[in-house]
Parts: sequence; C-alpha cells; structure tokens
Amino acid sequence: MGRLKIHLISAARPNFMKIAPLYHALKNEPWAETVIVHTGQHYDINMSDSFFADLELPNPDIHLGVGSGTHAEQTARVMMAYEKVCLEERPGLVVVVGDVNSTMACTLAAVKLGQKVAHLEAGLRSFDRTMPEEINRLVTDALADILWTPSIDGDQNLINEGVPPDKIQRVGNIMIDSLEMLRPKINEENTFKKLGFQPQNYGLVTLHRPSNVDLPEKLSTLCQVLVELSELTPLIFPVHPRTRKNLDTFRQADILEKAKNVYLLDPLPYKQFMNLLFYSKFALTDSGGIQEETTYLDIPCLTLRENTERPVTITQGTNRLVDLTSVKEHLLSIINGDFKTSRIPELWDGKTAGRVSASIKSYFDMQG
Ligand code: UD1
Repeated sequence: MGRLKIHLISAARPNFMKIAPLYHALKNEPWAETVIVHTGQHYDINMSDSFFADLELPNPDIHLGVGSGTHAEQTARVMMAYEKVCLEERPGLVVVVGDVNSTMACTLAAVKLGQKVAHLEAGLRSFDRTMPEEINRLVTDALADILWTPSIDGDQNLINEGVPPDKIQRVGNIMIDSLEMLRPKINEENTFKKLGFQPQNYGLVTLHRPSNVDLPEKLSTLCQVLVELSELTPLIFPVHPRTRKNLDTFRQADILEKAKNVYLLDPLPYKQFMNLLFYSKFALTDSGGIQEETTYLDIPCLTLRENTERPVTITQGTNRLVDLTSVKEHLLSIINGDFKTSRIPELWDGKTAGRVSASIKSYFDMQG
C-alpha cells in the first residue's frame, strides 16, 4: 500500500499552531506524506512567516496566495485555487483546522471532488450566526468526514445537529501541543523583561473581532475604556492589522498612543507573544485561542464578547465574558486576588497530535 497523501491546510494566524504539532507528528510516520498548503489568507511576515519559523515548520509546499477581500471574494478565491490543486494532487485526506474562511472554502472545494476531509477543532459553537466564524464552523462540520473535537461540548453540539456519532472523535486541544513543544524556548525569549516589565504586573490585550473594532463608535468607547483600565495596571497591546487599519481610519490611534500606560506593539511572533502571556497578570481579548491558552496556564482572562464557542473555558477555566461597562469591575477583582479558580479540561495535555495521527492511521487502515 502506498503512502497516504495528507494536505494540511493553513491560512491565517490561529491555524499555524494547530497545524504544526500535527505536521511534526506525521512527518516521521512511514505511512504518511504531508503536504502543507498555505492559502495566503494571512500574508504579512508578522502574521504568517514568523509563525512558520517559530513553530519549526518548513516553507509551505503549495502557496495559493489569495490575500484579502470581502468574505465572498476571499472564500471564492480559495475555492477556485484549491480546486485546481486538489485535481492535480488528489490527496488521500484534507485536514482543515479552526474556523477561518479558508477552512470552509477548502472543505467545500475538496468534498465536491470526492476527497475525504477531516476537521480539527470541530463542534465548537457560539450559536451566534452574525459571526463569520460560526458560519464557517457550521458549513465545515456539516461536510467533513472526520470530526475531531477539543472538548465534550463539541461532541454534544455535533450530536444535536444530527451528525452520526461514528464521525466524531474527541482528541483534545492541539494548541496545547504547540505550547508544550515550545515551552522552554518561549521562556528563553524573555520578551516581558526586554520590554521593561515585571512578572504579573501588566495585562495583555488583543482585540480584532469585527463586532469590537469595525464600528467607529464602538471602537472609540473601547479606546476610552482601555485608557481607563491602564490607570489600574499597564496594558501591552499587540495590534492586529484589522484593528490597526480601523484605529487609523476612525482616527482613534491617538488616544491610545498618548496614554502613558498603554504599550502598542505590532503583532508579535508566537514565542514572544506567548512569553508575554506566560508572565501576564491577566488577558483582555476577543480571540478564541487566547481564551484556551489562559485556561491552560491558569491566567485570568476577560473576553470582550457576548458569547463564546469555547464554553469549557468558562465552566472549567479562567475565562469570563465581559462588556465595556463591566470590564473594570472584573479587572478589580483580578487585582484584588478574588478571581475564580479553574482546572484544565480533559485531554488538553500536549498529546493531541498523537491521537489525531492514530485516528488517521486507523481510519485509512494504514500499516506501518
Ligand atoms: C481572521 C479570521 C478570524 C481569526 C483571525 C485571526 C475569518 C473570517 N476570520 O480574521 O477567525 O480569529 O483571522 O487573526 O477567516 N491583513 C493584513 N495582513 C495580514 C492579514 C490580514 O494586513 O497578514 C488585513 C487584511 O487586509 C484585512 C484585515 O487585516 O483588511 C482582516 O483580515 P482577514 O483575513 O479578513 O480577517 P481577520 O480579521 O484577520
């Protein structure tokens, strides 16, 4: 029997730390041939290339170079480009991760050509269809052949949607594999020291969701609240390109730049960002991944959203949903040391890639 050709689809910043552990687990398997496909949804050095370097990934084997656009444009461009690749390559399995536009686009293109698709991080639901990521999750999970979930709520959501149970396998949270693989190197970065901070003496901020940064009034209030919070504790804020663009367009950058205790940075490479997270007092975010990483690291997380597709970070972990009026009160409870206790969800143990690899091997009945 020949080797199984596996396409690993990577597209945007939160994908790279999910692809990396799987690539490292599969590369030495005699039955597997991995092909890294980068759609080019994120293309800046600091949103993409630096992550490949930090996560010890080789250059992508195939680059689709689709870039930015409206949702339909971006999705359509990925579909058109990936359909061609699929026809030429005929992979045995296409692995898509997370919930970005490319996840859904590659799934759609591949299943229509009769290719097998597996979704890593399946089953997560915010039940909020105004989020583009929720649409991407629903479509991807409805079509994929294998659904690897990170937590029990994922299994339950899929069952509720009528997915046959034999398609679902709980494998845990693959991002924790990247964190554990790089933990010593993350510590060596000493980013917090280089920036002149003391451990547990600052908050780390990331905000980029359309619901927080795309409307001028909302963004303006958000900036005022950040300045107010920074009077309680310094804030380090690596700014996502979407947010940077809107801060400039809506002329809001000034208020943050002038604030004494707000430190604006460009988006950071993985190891530097994680170093700042490791030593932070708390995170203020609207990212999916950071809600999970803070739960794993036992660091309080304030999530500026109305809902989360990652409820275990609330029921078991360190996460709390906040809004612009309640965030200060929650920050004060962190500063006063009376934030809630937490535990690490089951199978968030740094061994997820091994379980995924075993699942592929058994699904395709591979020998070796
Ligand atoms: C995307 C994902 C989101 C994920 C986020 C993490 C979708 C629908 N959204 O959102 O789920 O949490 O990535 O970062 O797939 N840009 C650059 N340089 C880049 C990438 C983007 O300047 O390398 C600019 C684009 O031109 C665009 C904006 O940032 O104006 C947004 O990029 P886009 O890929 O549309 O979505 P994100 O907001 O990054």
